[in-house]
Amino acid sequence: MTHQPPHAPVAESYGHHTTNHPRFVRRHGWLDPFIAELDVALQVLGGGVTASRPNPAGPKAAESDAGLDDAAKRHAAGLMRVNHVGEVCAQALYRGQAAAVSSQESSEFFLEAAAEEIDHLGWCAQRLRELDSRPSLLNPLWYAGSFALGVLASRAGSAQSLGFMAETERQVEAHLEGHLTELPVADSRSRAIVEEMKQDEVKHRVNAEFRGAQVLPKPLRSAMRLMSQVMTKTAYRI
Ligand SMILES: [Fe+2]
Ligand SMILES: [Fe+2]
Repeated sequence: MTHQPPHAPVAESYGHHTTNHPRFVRRHGWLDPFIAELDVALQVLGGGVTASRPNPAGPKAAESDAGLDDAAKRHAAGLMRVNHVGEVCAQALYRGQAAAVSSQESSEFFLEAAAEEIDHLGWCAQRLRELDSRPSLLNPLWYAGSFALGVLASRAGSAQSLGFMAETERQVEAHLEGHLTELPVADSRSRAIVEEMKQDEVKHRVNAEFRGAQVLPKPLRSAMRLMSQVMTKTAYRI
């Protein structure tokens, strides 16, 4: 038996025919999924993702934020930074769940959910720039922690993992509702984004429930709430 190095040119086989024109064919190694995940993480953390849907706030006009003084802008930026961190966590959580869940169908469902959340991430990042602010400096930590949580959730089984997703979306929905009260009334652009996100999160929760999400035990739901309170308090400033 002959051994070829991992990236040696090999003759490609089409059905039962083998061509006489060797081409370079990329062979997939066990490291590839890790490299692909790292690449996605770097894009999310580096702001290299863009929304595919138009921003619900519409195009920004020169007078859009005229009603916001410096204090109101700082407050709005703090809240939108919290929302941005929430979307970074959603990316990591759902990708972690997709990576560890046993069923291919569930894995695709989590990847689709992550792809839909990209819009939210892009809109929040754009609004932070408009408010002359920045994303949280702790995003790499939140991403790593959320990815690990996603893996753990999927290890518990598909119904529990979907339950984790449904509970996450339920808590995010309540949190966004609170932001609609807290955001300055004059900040119509942030409000439009948060309103659209809230409607999407409801759809995500309903989808997870429809697929058989299991209701999580109360202590776990309380722990998730506690963790999100720590995240919101920290991300508002850092
Ligand atoms: Fe979201
Ligand atoms: Fe969501």
